[in-house]
Amino acid sequence: MNYEEYLRRVPKVELHCHFEGTVRPATFADLARQHDIALPTSDVGKLYDYETIYEFLKIFAMVSSTLIDRQDFARAAYESVADGATLGNLKYREMFFNPTLHTRRGVAMATIIDGLIDGIREAETDFGVRCRLIADVYRQDEPAVARQMVEDVLACRRPELIGLGMDGAEAPDPPEKFVDAYRVAARGGLRLTSHACEDAPPENVTSCLDVLGCERIDHGYHVLASPEVTGRCRDEGIYFTCCPTSTAVVYGWPDLTGHPIKDMVAAGLQVTINSDDPTMFHTDIGREYVDLCGALGYQVEQVRTFVLNGVDAAWLDDTDRAAMRADFTKELDELEQQLA
Ligand code: ADE
Ligand code: ZN
Repeated sequence: MNYEEYLRRVPKVELHCHFEGTVRPATFADLARQHDIALPTSDVGKLYDYETIYEFLKIFAMVSSTLIDRQDFARAAYESVADGATLGNLKYREMFFNPTLHTRRGVAMATIIDGLIDGIREAETDFGVRCRLIADVYRQDEPAVARQMVEDVLACRRPELIGLGMDGAEAPDPPEKFVDAYRVAARGGLRLTSHACEDAPPENVTSCLDVLGCERIDHGYHVLASPEVTGRCRDEGIYFTCCPTSTAVVYGWPDLTGHPIKDMVAAGLQVTINSDDPTMFHTDIGREYVDLCGALGYQVEQVRTFVLNGVDAAWLDDTDRAAMRADFTKELDELEQQLA
């Protein structure tokens, strides 16, 4: 087996992946046709072309607008997990979704959540991949909208729904804006994470940890601008869910050899590798490992660290985590033996 195949086949946990950003372009086009929604191009290969995070977020919202019925959510969620399994040996995912992008169009919260759960349960049966859900605050919403979203999510709580996160454009809307929503989520027993330092200074990580009570940080690259915040995150063992391709595309590190992930690893931070919005960024979870480890020359020990960081950072109970660690370790040992 060559190194690229090995990287594709190592068992993976994914903790930073947006449901709406996993919709296959052909499914996006098909749902648009079914619901009579006009698209900017009839060329499926061009649907996911954009240059900035702002243009990206517009397309993200357009994809969301084609998800209307419970079966739309179920179909797209099933395909999303299937793609992770077949393209990157995905075993477990905690997947974001943006409730208010759907509820503001009149889709009921229960339709969204039950549809997603139909899809991920069917995919678990067919592919053996477990998937859990994290509802994301959309940063450009008003605080009261976010808080109401959390209350509605808690009213529709299902066992698969385990956490609250936050996404959208980071620079204009700091984390503290949503302290109420995070308090309600914490009281309701949800685990907490947030996108931070994707596109803003290190103070945003401090606010996420100290004001919102986040346990993980999604992205986190600009934390490196502060030795103090970096040192704190290292000492506290904070896990970062990093996404090589998506951030390389929209934030201008086009060559992965210059991606801050390299310095985060060197600084002793606990990094996990993720695909973010795989179909929209023309990638997949297998490819993220192939491209990053290829560009930065990471060998099997570092790959093992990325993989097991994913297991350790996952919101599993101790029994599940120990079982997954044992399974992954065995599979990694076998794959390493087969490496040419
Ligand atoms: N929504 C979906 N993907 C995102 C990202 N990488 N950053 C901010 N918001 C997002
Ligand atoms: Zn993201």
